[in-house]
Amino acid sequence: MRTRQTRSIPIYACLAVLVGTSSGAGAPLYASDAAASGQSLYITHCSACHQINGEGLPGVAPPLKGSGVVNKDDPSKHIHAVLDGMSGGTAGGVVYPGAMPPFAGVLSDAEIADIIDFERSSWGNHGKPVTSAQVTAAHSGAN
Ligand code: HEC
Repeated sequence: MRTRQTRSIPIYACLAVLVGTSSGAGAPLYASDAAASGQSLYITHCSACHQINGEGLPGVAPPLKGSGVVNKDDPSKHIHAVLDGMSGGTAGGVVYPGAMPPFAGVLSDAEIADIIDFERSSWGNHGKPVTSAQVTAAHSGAN
């Protein structure tokens, strides 16, 4: 008796659609590797809550598009939100019942800098870029 081989193709097809959609949905194309890696790290680690389009999910996670923290010249709050996580705060005047998980120890300082730069330059945001050294300084408690 012949058994049919389990087909895993549909799963890959879905992934391809997901990735295809994310870059086809108006996300900027980058010349630099750092920005491209920031985008793919964002999709992997942040988009489930903050969404691919950066608009967040009401009741779950705030929008990063137009966020004061993301567009502020001084990036310390942005860096610390990602390194240390946040809970019980307000974002854009709204209280979110869930917590923002900490990413220190999950991602390297350089990866966090890449994600932050992606957020600061996407969806119409215009925050000053950060360096990996700034993330490392915040990580070690220097600011
Ligand atoms: C489990 C859902 C979840 C994931 C995953 C997540 N966040 Fe958040 N994030 C939140 C919540 C909830 C808040 C608001 C917390 C609060 O106000 O206390 C938040 C807040 C933020 C803020 C502050 C926004 C503001 O305007 O104050 C930034 C910046 C941020 N997240 C970036 C990220 C980045 C970068 C990643 C991926 C590395 C990420 N988040 C992953 C849920 C999430």
